[in-house]
Parts: sequence; C-alpha cells; structure tokens
Amino acid sequence: MRDSIKVILFCFLLVIPFLTLACSQIKDYPTDLEQLSEDERLVIRFSHVVGEDTPKGMAARKFAELIKERSNGRIEIQVFSNGTLYKDVEELDALLRGDIQLIAPAISKLTDLVPELSVYDLPYAFNSLEEVHEFTESEAGNRLKDLLKMHNLIALGLWDSGFKQISNDIRPIEHYQDLKGIRMRIMQSDILAQQYYIVDAFPRKIDFNTVFQSLKKGDIEGQENTLTNITSKNFYSLQKYLTISNHGYLGYFLLFNLDFWESLSDEDQELFTETLHEVQEWQWQLAEDLNDKRLQEIEECQCIQIYYLSEEEKKEWEEHFTPVYHYYTQHYGDYYIQNLPKYKYVK
Ligand code: LMR
Repeated sequence: MRDSIKVILFCFLLVIPFLTLACSQIKDYPTDLEQLSEDERLVIRFSHVVGEDTPKGMAARKFAELIKERSNGRIEIQVFSNGTLYKDVEELDALLRGDIQLIAPAISKLTDLVPELSVYDLPYAFNSLEEVHEFTESEAGNRLKDLLKMHNLIALGLWDSGFKQISNDIRPIEHYQDLKGIRMRIMQSDILAQQYYIVDAFPRKIDFNTVFQSLKKGDIEGQENTLTNITSKNFYSLQKYLTISNHGYLGYFLLFNLDFWESLSDEDQELFTETLHEVQEWQWQLAEDLNDKRLQEIEECQCIQIYYLSEEEKKEWEEHFTPVYHYYTQHYGDYYIQNLPKYKYVK
C-alpha cells in the first residue's frame, strides 16, 4: 500500500511540471502562417514598373503591409517593383492571363484596350488633382471603369503620380512652337501622340524602363513625365531643359483580374476595398508632397534649366491643343469630354 502511494506521488510530481511546461508552450507558441496550406493562404502578385520611392512604389508597399497585418498574415501581397517581373505592356497581358492578380498601370497604357480612357490624356483636361478625383468618381468615370470589366478587369482605385512636365536636350521650351522637330518619348497612347503631332514634334512610344537608355543613346531627345518619375529614374541628369507645364495628368488604376476578384470571399473583397480606400487617401497627399519636394530639390541643385509656364501661357497652350479634343470626339464621341469638370459647370 505504501509502495503504491509512493508510485502515485512520484508520477504526480513528474507529470505536473511536464503538463505545466507543455501548456505554457502551447500558449506561447507563435502562429506561423507560413505553415498554412496552399488552400488557406492567399498570395497575390502585384507588379509595377516604377521605383520604390515613388508615390506608386510607396503606396504598393503600404497596401501590402496593411493587408498582411489585417488578415493576420493569411493574405500576402508580393510587390515586384521597377519592372523586374514584367515590363509595361507585359504586365497587362500577364494580368489578363491571370499569371498575376494585381497591377497599377498608368491609365494611358490601358488606352489600346479601352480607347475612351484617353480622355485622361487630353492636354489640360484637368485644372487640379481634385478635378481628376471628382471625374473618376462621377457617373462618367464609373462608365469608363465599367468598360474595363468587358476585358475581365476591375478597377478598384485611383492613385496619382501627378501632372507631367517636359524635359529635353535641344532647347528651352517656352512656347509650344519650341517643341517642333523634337523626338519625344511618350507612353502608349494615341492621344499623347496627337498632342505632339499638333506641335510638329516626333512622339515615340517607349517602354518606361528603357527611357533612360533611349535618352542616353540619343534615340529620343526629350520626354514628358511627373517629377517623381523624372528624378527617380534620373532622366534629368541627361537633359538640359525642363518646362513646368503641368500639361497632362498621369495616374494609375488599381486593377485586379476580374475572375480572380470574383473568386474571393465577401469578407476578403471588403478588406481589400476598405484598405484600398484608406491607402488611396494617403497616396493622393503623398504624391502631391513628393512632387513638391522633388521640384524644390531640382531647383536647388541647379543642374537643369527650368522654365515655368505662366497661367496665361498655359491657356494659350490649351487653346492650341483644341484639335486633339476634336480628334478624340471624332473617334470616341463627346460624352466623356462634356463631363470633364472644367466643362461640366460651364453653361
Ligand atoms: C511611364 O511610363 O512614364 C509611367 O507610366 C510610369 C509609371 O508607372 O508611373
């Protein structure tokens, strides 16, 4: 009897610390979501072509971080910047094929697919970024976004790069006539090509990630872009003249492959939509601040000659570009132009 009490006591003393240790380990054991099965985890590949320290690059990272945090690591957005995964046109094809799930291309680069979107490319279409945002949220803007659905794409947000400026190596551009004869890089958009035909320049559609090399080799003599893109890719180091013209908008649609989007649960769709909305507000401010900062840096470095178009000169340029609006109307009708904020309130 005494022996069996001893055995019970011995087992008790041995088991208690073991149980305590086991329980505490279960409690503190880290949740390793990497160990979730393929079915449980959601991996989204997000490809874009610009640098990390640009309004798009920074917003992409923030979006990925927030989604990871809010889904407790279940959803991972893998961001591929600088065109390392796919270049300009390739990324759209990859999204359409479903090889990747998310991209944020410049709207200009969607105009081969949905030409009506080139209303965003019209010179001086918008007086401010607020006007761009208002138009995008309007009925006309929603109709434009719906056109993308016919191509199995869904646009869930708008991020700004900002307004474009003109740089070149030939002469200061103070008047639109100064653009005559200059070989200018543009994005893949016919309206942008028309804009340069009107001033007798030679537009060339070139992939963003080869602009630097093309400028260096002399294949092109000038280009138009936002200041964050001009500086992050060092274009200005190869150019003598910069004109602050603010003549055109550059922004991005956040595009999901529609089949993929529809395969998501309601909860996940809500998570993406709400987070994107929050990041968008933050991104708009960031784009404005970064462009201002880059302008200040360029002014201080005195490494490029800068000309600022006055408000009067901008009006003259806008008038001179009227045939580009006619070109758009002839091809795609006047509905979207009529609904630009600058015309909407004019009686
Ligand atoms: C460009 O090609 O100039 C831009 O679209 C790059 C970008 O994505 O901002």
